Amino acid sequence: MQEFFFTLFMILNVVTPGLSSTTTTFNVLQYGAVGDGKTNDSPAFIKAWKDVCQSKSQISSLIIPAKRTFLLKPTTFRGPCKSNYTYIQLLGDIVAPKTKSEYSGFHTNTWLGFSYVNGLIISGKGTIDGRGSAWWQQPCIGNAQPGANCRPPTALTFYRCYRLQLKGFTSINPARSHMTLTTCKKGIITNLRLVAPGTSPNTDGIDISGSRDIQVLNSFIGTGDDCIAISAGSSKINIAGITCGPGHGISIGSLGTRGETDIVEDVHVKNCTLTETLTGVRIKTWQGGGGYARRISFEKIKFVRANNPIIIDQFYCPHRSDCQNKTQAIKVSDVTYKGIVGTSLTDKAINLSCDQNVGCSNLVFDHVYITSADPKQKVFSYCHNAHGTASNTKPSLQCLLK
Ligand SMILES: *[C@@H]1O[C@H](CO)[C@@H](O)[C@H](O)[C@H]1NC(C)=O
Ligand SMILES: *[C@@H]1O[C@H](CO)[C@@H](O)[C@H](O)[C@H]1NC(C)=O
Ligand SMILES: *[C@@H]1O[C@H](CO)[C@@H](O)[C@H](O)[C@H]1NC(C)=O
Ligand SMILES: *[C@@H]1O[C@H](CO)[C@@H](O)[C@H](O)[C@H]1NC(C)=O
Repeated sequence: MQEFFFTLFMILNVVTPGLSSTTTTFNVLQYGAVGDGKTNDSPAFIKAWKDVCQSKSQISSLIIPAKRTFLLKPTTFRGPCKSNYTYIQLLGDIVAPKTKSEYSGFHTNTWLGFSYVNGLIISGKGTIDGRGSAWWQQPCIGNAQPGANCRPPTALTFYRCYRLQLKGFTSINPARSHMTLTTCKKGIITNLRLVAPGTSPNTDGIDISGSRDIQVLNSFIGTGDDCIAISAGSSKINIAGITCGPGHGISIGSLGTRGETDIVEDVHVKNCTLTETLTGVRIKTWQGGGGYARRISFEKIKFVRANNPIIIDQFYCPHRSDCQNKTQAIKVSDVTYKGIVGTSLTDKAINLSCDQNVGCSNLVFDHVYITSADPKQKVFSYCHNAHGTASNTKPSLQCLLK
């Protein structure tokens, strides 16, 4: 908490030198929330949110008290709010409805949605439990036809956020992703724990799309799909101090689905450990897309018994039979892999699978040492139309073209 106020103090001082900060505090219990884990507390939270959001102080704070469990139905917390910072102190726990039928009637693929809130801060030691296991077996509600509201809800969505800060809490067992950031700017995510079984389908940790200037730091993510996925329209994304696994590693993409033009640039991943993940660090693009992924770096990465540690795949095409090669592809360039060590469970430690026409250029490998998790086995590199340079790299990357 102290550290948080220090951060906030710094921000306020930087933004408005000399302005003293005022805080107005609200508590969900004042609005009739019960916190027994059984009562639907959504109406109370919505009432409280209205006041929090209307409050004109510099910091408007909502307390979700400790030692209680609040059951929330699908709920949207909408901005813009009047204070500079809307600070949710997540001290207690929040749980989702137990059954899928409790989601019917809500036109949303979100359990808890935050949209258009500037300066939103969610911080505290509470746990958000998406109770997703019912969805993992059978994603649809009732007898819904495929495509008709069939997508399990993401636990937390942040849409059009500016200066978002997420800190210290835990998210467990979401029906789909733990959280998505869509069209956000200047966010910082630190010290989170995102946990779901390795077998839970589509439970990405953090999905970032259309967003700029986002940092994800010092967090633990053990889940059933990508720990972090960065997709179309994202730039200036810094990821550091992430411990990932189980999960599918840290991914850029997939980009260029259905021939879209997608752009991702300036993504830096540093000081991360990936343990027993299904893939490690991966860039995946579909055939036929336009645009590019460029200026991407992976530095000081440690793999512990990871499968397929380093992948560039310009032929990405899962669950499809019509995987035609097209004349167009997303251009991949200026990708650096530096200071990477660890062990692989598969023999293809590095697979750079690039398109014939567009290809991948300026891939730079330096001090990359990947060995087999089984001391009796060897590991290999594979390239297809991949251009760049390698130094101090094992398995050797002689397949890389100039
Ligand atoms: C707080 O909000 C007011 C009104 O929107 C604005 O004038 C002021 O610059 C903001 N201060 C900070 C710290 O961003
Ligand atoms: C590296 O990441 C770990 C968490 O995995 C963190 O504790 C440590 O502070 C980070 N080190 C640096 C130099 O950022
Ligand atoms: C697409 O091109 C790649 C690389 O040349 C090749 O390995 C693959 O078989 C092709 N796929 C199809 C469906 O033609
Ligand atoms: C590398 O990845 C490509 C694209 O996913 C795949 O088709 C190919 O089989 C992989 N190569 C090896 C040698 O594993």
